[in-house]
Amino acid sequence: MRKKVIAANWKMNGTLEQANDLLDAFASATLNVNEEKIAVFAVPAPYLLLAKEKLVGNPFLKVAAQNCYSKKSGAYTGEISVEILKSIGIEFVVLGHSERREYFGESNSFLAEKVNISLEFGITPIFCCGEPLEIREAETQNAFVAKQLEESLFHLTAEGINKIIIAYEPIWAIGTGKTASNQQAQEMHASIRSVIAAKYGADIANEISILYGGSVKASSAVDLFAEPDVDGGLVGGASLIADEFIKIINA
Ligand code: 13P
Repeated sequence: MRKKVIAANWKMNGTLEQANDLLDAFASATLNVNEEKIAVFAVPAPYLLLAKEKLVGNPFLKVAAQNCYSKKSGAYTGEISVEILKSIGIEFVVLGHSERREYFGESNSFLAEKVNISLEFGITPIFCCGEPLEIREAETQNAFVAKQLEESLFHLTAEGINKIIIAYEPIWAIGTGKTASNQQAQEMHASIRSVIAAKYGADIANEISILYGGSVKASSAVDLFAEPDVDGGLVGGASLIADEFIKIINA
């Protein structure tokens, strides 16, 4: 069963006081979440345990790390391993966000290693892909995104790929207020699904949740999430405003 997933990506935002307030608001809100529709909160690492504690009352509210390292443990100062994440009960990790790719030089092959170790530890990767503006303008976005998937995910077995959540985030729409049109999002999501189907078969492709990210707002979420291949969102700015993100979850 393909799940709906509404994920918050707080990025490097929020003091402890703000994190407390936001998490309290989500913990006490009436949210339309269930077995088939979950909300995931990717908070800064120092707040992971706090988020677990605050959201423990609702089994459909999950906590994600925003990144992990590719090794199990060892002398990698400043990094966070999936072994550590697992030990504190984290079930999801965002991998390959465009900001990680751009500012920290994360390549498709390096991300493949992170995907592997996450799956090894039973942590679900929310794997981000998406094209920069010049690729969109050259109209080669489908091939660009297909290559990201091929190089980071297509070494996996069918069982492995089935555990991945994909987030399509056109870089030109992140934090810019510019959203891909519903049609642009649907076209890319359908393209991603067809690339997966070509490699793993239609049944597996139909099981995978594909989220859209890039300036999602409460006002755009209802129509966007109604597209047949859009299974939810990965939300940055709007996830830091409690009322706005609650509306997106309930959209
Ligand atoms: P915005 O919603 O702020 O555009 O961020 C999108 C994003 O990068 C989520 O991961």
